[in-house]
Amino acid sequence: MRKKITLIGAGQIGGTLAHLIALKELADVVLFDVAAGIAKGKALDIAQSSPVNGFNVNLSGTDNYEDTKNSDVIIITAGVPRKPGMTRDDLLGINLKIIKQVAQGIKNTSPNAFVICITNPLDVIVMALQKYSGLSKNKIVGMAGILDSSRFIYFLSQELKVPVQKIKSFVLGGHGDSMVAMLGSTEIEGKKIQEFVKEGKISKEKLDQIVERTKKGGAEIVKFLEKGSAFYAPAASGVEMAESYLKDLKKQLPCAAHLNGEYGFKDIYAGVPVIIGNKGVEKIVELNLSDEEKKNFSLSIKSVEDLFNAAKKIDSSLA
Ligand code: APR
Repeated sequence: MRKKITLIGAGQIGGTLAHLIALKELADVVLFDVAAGIAKGKALDIAQSSPVNGFNVNLSGTDNYEDTKNSDVIIITAGVPRKPGMTRDDLLGINLKIIKQVAQGIKNTSPNAFVICITNPLDVIVMALQKYSGLSKNKIVGMAGILDSSRFIYFLSQELKVPVQKIKSFVLGGHGDSMVAMLGSTEIEGKKIQEFVKEGKISKEKLDQIVERTKKGGAEIVKFLEKGSAFYAPAASGVEMAESYLKDLKKQLPCAAHLNGEYGFKDIYAGVPVIIGNKGVEKIVELNLSDEEKKNFSLSIKSVEDLFNAAKKIDSSLA
């Protein structure tokens, strides 16, 4: 039997997710949105491209959680995106309320699903989602690290004129301005990035600028679009996580995962490399961090903690 992926939120990211999943024939797709017409319309539009693109999956739209029952994967993008000048943290109040409704909707209908959250502010929203739904921690993850790493790799590739496929890197920590580009784990054609700096192929200043641009990568797009935030790259990143789970690929991917002592932190969600297979988050990979990376990672976790404390003030049931 074909697998079932439910997309909660059929907006810009939700629609793009549905299209990518269909093109890859990864699973049947249920688009859920409080605006049922958007979910139904997008499902029908994508389904009508199946004769052209030659894919064979079912797509449907709904605003009824019963139709999402027994999903294998749920990807959540329900919520409000940023407007120019806003930080992700500014979305906390409104998206927290939305995620509470979503948690109620999915916890009884798909108790065994692998749940990928994309709604911002990511780390705090995914942590709230886990608490509201009570679903197991290794089955609830946040998508951010793949996107941030992908942006970083793209910028490096443009600067160094090296194909993206030849660059390996990770961006870890919270999905905010304090995210940490792991320069110590960045390799280009198998060579450490620091070698490139030593050889003068990229200046330290340029590298710092690229790290900064990565941190502000989302805001750069919000500024261009004016009416919404990035959706192609976020959707592609979410699909990579879903695929690793459904096909048991056991890929190592940077995701917002629940830490239980790893990297020295407990009971907090933050971006770390994890192995995703058919059991969900099967392992958290602990990289050796340099002193500077450790310091920056701690600062990033601190900002997630601070924002979660703000969330607890908004909704005391999170305490
Ligand atoms: N349940 C289901 N869907 C909801 C709910 C809800 N309670 N509240 C809002 N939605 C739907 C909206 O109707 C809308 O169609 O969520 C959708 C969000 O779509 P967009 O506004 O296009 O936003 P998008 O760009 O997809 O981003 C969604 O992901 O990256 C984050 O910061 C981004 O938080 C934002 C989220």
